[in-house]
Amino acid sequence: MCGIVGYIGPYQASDFLVEGLRRLEYRGYDSSGVVTIDDGEFTVTKSTGRVDDLVEKLKAHPARGSIGLGHTRWATHGPATEVNAHPHIGGDNVVALVHNGVIENFRELKQQLAERGYYCKSATDTEVVAQLVASEIDARCTAPNGAASNAAFSAADRYSALVDAVQAALSQLRGTYGLAMVFRDWPDVIIVARLGSPLVIGVGDDEHFVASDGSPLVGHTDRIVYLADHELAVVTTHSIRVIHRDEGDVRHKVNRLDIDTTQVELGGFPHYMLKEIFEQPETVTAAIRGRLNRDEATAVFGGLNLTAQQLRSIDRVVLTACGTSWHSALVGEYMIESFARIPVEVEYASELRYRNPPMSPHTVLFAITQSGETIDTLAALREMKRKGHPTLAICNVVGSTIAREADGGIYLHAGPEVGVASTKAYTSQCVVMALLALYFGRMRDLSFDAGLRIIDELAALPKYVEESLECNNETRRIAAKYAACNNFLYLGRQFNFPTALEGALKLKEISYIHAEGYPAAEMKHGPIALVDKHTPSVFIVPQGGVYSKVIANMEEIKARGGPVIAVVDKDDSQAVELADEVIHIPTVPEFLQPIVAAIPLQLLAYHAATFRGCDVDKPRNLAKSVTVE
Ligand code: F6R
Repeated sequence: MCGIVGYIGPYQASDFLVEGLRRLEYRGYDSSGVVTIDDGEFTVTKSTGRVDDLVEKLKAHPARGSIGLGHTRWATHGPATEVNAHPHIGGDNVVALVHNGVIENFRELKQQLAERGYYCKSATDTEVVAQLVASEIDARCTAPNGAASNAAFSAADRYSALVDAVQAALSQLRGTYGLAMVFRDWPDVIIVARLGSPLVIGVGDDEHFVASDGSPLVGHTDRIVYLADHELAVVTTHSIRVIHRDEGDVRHKVNRLDIDTTQVELGGFPHYMLKEIFEQPETVTAAIRGRLNRDEATAVFGGLNLTAQQLRSIDRVVLTACGTSWHSALVGEYMIESFARIPVEVEYASELRYRNPPMSPHTVLFAITQSGETIDTLAALREMKRKGHPTLAICNVVGSTIAREADGGIYLHAGPEVGVASTKAYTSQCVVMALLALYFGRMRDLSFDAGLRIIDELAALPKYVEESLECNNETRRIAAKYAACNNFLYLGRQFNFPTALEGALKLKEISYIHAEGYPAAEMKHGPIALVDKHTPSVFIVPQGGVYSKVIANMEEIKARGGPVIAVVDKDDSQAVELADEVIHIPTVPEFLQPIVAAIPLQLLAYHAATFRGCDVDKPRNLAKSVTVE
């Protein structure tokens, strides 16, 4: 939530800042702003709304200077107004600062600062940090006559006084932050700091970039430094100095960023969401690649980092996640319990972090997350780690906080997911769940033959995903017919109960149509009261153990005049007779149904949203990476 960019080097900063903000807009789009330093003065440009609005302002009044910061906001404290937009200025133009996170003690600090003559103009928690940094700089670096005194310090002292001031300010903050700041009297340095919110530094040739994640760096550099919690970095054109709160100066590691330009561009699609839906044959392939071992009839993972002894002694698996990732955890529960017979519990990360459920010492935690930055998932992982449980991440973003803090894990390799509604990451998460179920199963009761059969089925999955996409025109037609409805029900059972939840979430988040996902039989216990001729029910009803039961549930809806949209196997005969609309998916084993059935539901939501004129890639009130509690 909230995106940060920064540039220092020989070129005009605003070019990188604007381009970077566009790439980070998925993190928030309530307002945006940039600051550059030109001729010893800050130039601040802010706009409510999208980055496009900011660009228009910058066209009229260009922001010159070869050092600067940018920010795209997801509002937490204070509405989306220009005054609340970042950057915020501290003191008498002493510092300009952008922030991602939440400062919990901002009210106390605001009052203390006001008593010392530092007043905030905005309703944000961030401006308090700007004023605090300014007050610490004024206290340490100001000459007796009141002017900021560069002359009073040697070059080295000037920087150390500045770093001391920033550290003193940071030490008073409670909460989370990714911060980047520039200083009127130190126009050759950006200081960044992080605690709980991501920040990276891109290493160019005689230039440096700052960003909330690697995507703005693509096309500029493939060398990236991940800042850790409690680290602060002093970034100049030619150098990076990283200082840890407790350890002092630390060596920073320069990693390789493995994203190419095509992955962050639309490539002819009208929206990222549609592009990402159509990427699924490749992303599913990437999740499976190199992970099937036919000789042993099992899955292989490079990074679990658990001993064979630890793996064998696992007696309980806890899967924790939020949102769509939580739905993939539910799919995982069905898969792991049926292949490996290990008890699985699926926990909302936001609940698990504050609960203290009894857990055997041999409980292992998997945190499932596309971004690797979701604050609740991170906190749940830390809590379980603290209690001595092995923690593993199933994650898409390489080098993200959760990927780095977990004891080990499995990457999705789905490439950057830009659309705010998760699509390809979800199906890749389900694939990894299937691989894990196979892996644990083969360590326990699952026979060699059964393992081999699962491997064959997984190997054929990309072809089935490709086939599922053939329903695009049909889902478009159905979406056009029902897009004006205000309520939908999504119903499925067993493996497809999570599919129903995921279908409903996709529809509501991008089209703003109210939708509820339910286990199909459970609908009789309340939601059936919603059924009328304006409330379509989407049934996920491929062949399987509960097929005839779901058909019976469908009859119950039909008897009450509710329109039925059925997602069925290619060779279905009963559901097609009952349903008003039919979407065909390929016939696959039950454990793979949540993957192939998710695709028509993603497309249905996408088309419904476009018919309703919604901004598919940037739905209102949402942000892709939820880094605040
Ligand atoms: C919905 C969606 C969200 C995320 C959730 C967790 O389409 O994308 O519900 O799944 O915010 O995010 P990650 O997976 O990044 O932890």
